Amino acid sequence: MAKIDPEAKQKQSEEDNQRKKDVTYHHKPDAIADYTIDGQQINIRSENNIELQVAVHTDEIIQLKYVFEGDKPSNFSYAIDPEFNPKNPDFAIRETTNHIEIATDSLTCRVSRKDMKVSFWDSDGALLCKDKKPFFRKDTIMKGITKIKITKEAPEGTHYFGLGDKITENGLRGESFENWNTDSYAYELEEHRDPLYRSIPFYHALNSDGNAYGIFLDNTYRSHFDFDSNDNNTCTFSADGGCMNYYFIYGPEPTTVSERYAKLTGTPQMPPLWGLGYHQCRWSYYPEERVRKLADNFREKEIPCDALYLDIDYMDDYRVFTWNRDRFPDPKQMISDLKEQGFETIVMIDPGIKVDNDYEIYQQGLENDYFCKRPDGELMIGPVWPPKTVFPDYTHPEVREWWADLYKDLLTEKGVSGVWNDMNEPAVFEVKAKTFPNDIRHHFEGEQVSHKKAHNIYGMQMARASYEGIKKHKQGKRPFLLTRANFSGGQRYAALWTGDNIANWEHLRHALEQCVRLSISGYSFTGTDIGGFIEQPSAELFTRWLQLGVFHPLFRNHTMGYDAEGAEVIKEDQVEQKKLQSDADQEPWSFGEKHTRINRSVIELRYRLLHYLYTAFYQYIQHGTPILRPTAFAHPTDSNATTSRDTFLFGDKILVAPVIKKGARGRKTYLPSGQWYDYRTNELLKGGKTHKVDAPVSEIPFFVKAGTVLPLREVMQYTRERDPELLELNVYYGTQVSESYLYEDQGEGFTHNEGNYRLTTFHFESNPQENTVQLTANRNGSFVPEYQTVKINLIGLPFVPETITIDGQPVKMDQPAAEQSTYTFETEIGFSEITIS
Ligand code: GLC
Repeated sequence: MAKIDPEAKQKQSEEDNQRKKDVTYHHKPDAIADYTIDGQQINIRSENNIELQVAVHTDEIIQLKYVFEGDKPSNFSYAIDPEFNPKNPDFAIRETTNHIEIATDSLTCRVSRKDMKVSFWDSDGALLCKDKKPFFRKDTIMKGITKIKITKEAPEGTHYFGLGDKITENGLRGESFENWNTDSYAYELEEHRDPLYRSIPFYHALNSDGNAYGIFLDNTYRSHFDFDSNDNNTCTFSADGGCMNYYFIYGPEPTTVSERYAKLTGTPQMPPLWGLGYHQCRWSYYPEERVRKLADNFREKEIPCDALYLDIDYMDDYRVFTWNRDRFPDPKQMISDLKEQGFETIVMIDPGIKVDNDYEIYQQGLENDYFCKRPDGELMIGPVWPPKTVFPDYTHPEVREWWADLYKDLLTEKGVSGVWNDMNEPAVFEVKAKTFPNDIRHHFEGEQVSHKKAHNIYGMQMARASYEGIKKHKQGKRPFLLTRANFSGGQRYAALWTGDNIANWEHLRHALEQCVRLSISGYSFTGTDIGGFIEQPSAELFTRWLQLGVFHPLFRNHTMGYDAEGAEVIKEDQVEQKKLQSDADQEPWSFGEKHTRINRSVIELRYRLLHYLYTAFYQYIQHGTPILRPTAFAHPTDSNATTSRDTFLFGDKILVAPVIKKGARGRKTYLPSGQWYDYRTNELLKGGKTHKVDAPVSEIPFFVKAGTVLPLREVMQYTRERDPELLELNVYYGTQVSESYLYEDQGEGFTHNEGNYRLTTFHFESNPQENTVQLTANRNGSFVPEYQTVKINLIGLPFVPETITIDGQPVKMDQPAAEQSTYTFETEIGFSEITIS
């Protein structure tokens, strides 16, 4: 045995005593040492070797990335749309005593020589946004990078928007948020309120001079955003790992910022038209007789509906891609019969795979090594609906392909029309973290990373795999997919709903704000569980929520009711209360005769507005224009509009003022400048003012901008019930020149991509001095709608017309009732000019 030298031992122990649990390093850039130019990218290096890479993608989009020696920077991003087309514009580099400046035609990015602080300026020299502190990074020997952070100034008067569907009391300013996809059941409760189910690390700032810009942090780690919560005029964003990699997106209009962000991270395809109809869901409709009864009820009661959902209980013991044959003996027949009645069937698919040796999908995944593992190769197993579940690693392209093909039978054989992906945060029951531990391994397109980096995009990649599967197996049909978890860019694959909300008035208010903010965060195809998922709404609350839902692109009623098996296991604290409500239903007819009538007409209103919504969807896809917007976006310098949080814009032309207070039969509504028509009464209201408007429980106030041509569709029991015979156009008189659009196509399939669509541009012009109006229609595309007749309702005409001509021919019109000013006449579908004098 070797003898231990006591002196060496003493020395060793002294050294050991000096050692620490961990050592932390703080970094920030020193002065600029030099810079190089590499195509569109300027690499600015500090004396302590931190490189700021500034990439100029368009005149308005500049990317900033901070790279350290020893980093392994990758240009890969799940969020950026592979089809994003950088314009790679010319830019100038200017060196001044204190700065290096990179200038495009619209934007200047100024980097300080002293400490690499960055500021952005518009082409008129107005300051847009400025770093308050230099970039900061913290790393430790044991943990690696633990913080990357940017600190910006938040001047008084700057308003913040976006960041997905975060819940706030008074907007984003004054609050801080975290992005870490979380199964946040009942998210009203303080501890569940943030983080929520999805992460959209993108926000807008609107400065007091009306200039707007956006910041997108393209980093998938847990991230944090603070909008001056400490009241010291500071806005920060940071992540718990990875690279500081963000995009500065200039407007100057806030809507343009949304559009640019949506084009950077992508937009979806046109949805099938039925996807915008009314959808009925519940946890859970089973067995088959109950689903059939539900369908019959809709048709008997003549309440329009396009889709019915099957929640987890259709599966055989929560094995995804299987059927419980006791409950659904012949799913194919049932789905086909429902289809005959005009219902699309949408089924839930969760990510978790039951651990079960007799289950083929589990076997396949195991054999091919498709499931997520711990660092030492052990499977990640946790309880979700089945007590033991494994989870496919959707960050592996091969796993996504396998997953996509699992849909084949459901879509081609059983005839399912759409898919609903849930629990993909990924949710894990029983543990506090509600998800995987941080050290689970993921393929991440070959990068091999831990869950810290992959967590926030897990749901997005599941949605992507499902989307690919639906596209592949739905044979020429447009995919309809709904997901709960997601990340920036995930709008390319799926619609989303805001998760497990509660049937109370507070959540109705959240619903209003959440969908608007998602929409300006690139995510327009959204909705909430109408009526509330947890607990039961009163008749009044349900109707008010349904009315709001009319203006949400996803129009889906969903509730947990209480016949859901499995809920007892998971949500023990609520069992007793729920049992009492076991029979409570949340269908449009569940609240008595009077409300059935009201709810029917509310849903009919949605079907009336489908042309307009479909057109707004087209504009979203083409230009990234959000379907919903805060009122502030239309009037960024109007201080009343910037603080209006209880109204919103639906498309270009409609302002919605939902009733979100119990018992309210009217409300105050601020209408921004211009003139607005109350859709319900055709009353003309002046903008730039607050109005008191009536809102009986049967009505939701909404207002149409003067000069608008609003297309209205015939009410049908489901979108494809029959070809419409008529297109109605409400023409709202105004004194401003105005353009309106109508987009039409087959509502299904892809021929619109080959030109089989029709985009009509209506140009409205009036001459108030001479009492004349001219309306022209220009059409693009080869699609020919089935209807032959166009009915025109001319609203708000301030004079009695002597003649109306259509393409030069005088027309006969109905005489309006004495006190009205609406003139109605019909014409043929191809008219190009109407003159009124
Ligand atoms: C989750 C979903 C909810 C669904 C339930 C059962 O709570 O958010 O929508 O009904 O799981 O699948």
